[in-house]
Amino acid sequence: MYIKQINHSDLDDKISSNILAVHNDIFEVDLTPHFPTHVNQLVGYKNPIWILAYSPFDELIGISTISSYDDSYFLYNVGVIPKYRKKGFATDMVYHAILLNNNIYLRVRKDNENAINLYKKLNFELVENSPHWIDLEFDTCSCYMYNPY
Ligand SMILES: CC(C)(COP(=O)(O)OP(=O)(O)OC[C@H]1O[C@@H](n2cnc3c(N)ncnc32)[C@H](O)[C@@H]1OP(=O)(O)O)[C@@H](O)C(=O)NCCC(=O)NCCS
Repeated sequence: MYIKQINHSDLDDKISSNILAVHNDIFEVDLTPHFPTHVNQLVGYKNPIWILAYSPFDELIGISTISSYDDSYFLYNVGVIPKYRKKGFATDMVYHAILLNNNIYLRVRKDNENAINLYKKLNFELVENSPHWIDLEFDTCSCYMYNPY
């Protein structure tokens, strides 16, 4: 497996549609009708960088995005397709993000135990429960986590 880092502005239509397909698989939503080729709407922050995980067969299997956020960075879209989970791919992507900048915030749903375990393993700490980011579908609050190392 290997990790590739790509600036959002350098994504071509082929990588974009791969990211979209993988995003649909990971988050179990079909966003394709909303943006058929390019994934611009998946990035809401400044100068995003994609950190992508590939299988040994050059298959895109994991995605994540890091963007500048005030004086620090924000990590989002972290996910691995179901058949490649629990093999360390998310760990490798998040670790890569930390090496780019160790001043990272992220947001995670409180009931997302797998993701919270992942972030805690990489020394992220809870900094704030956010009443502003309520997930209406699941009626759970999100929380911010921060990696201070
Ligand atoms: C959360 C997610 C990204 C983890 O990806 P992954 O590649 O399976 O994670 P890793 O193999 O690197 O696991 C790292 C740690 O995460 C935790 N973890 C991951 N999957 C877990 C599971 N099914 N149960 C419990 N802990 C889990 C463990 O602490 C694990 O460390 P360990 O292997 O030493 O026990 C993946 O489950 C996923 O894509 N979920 C759907 C999308 C999502 O919710 N993304 C998070 C958005 S904030």
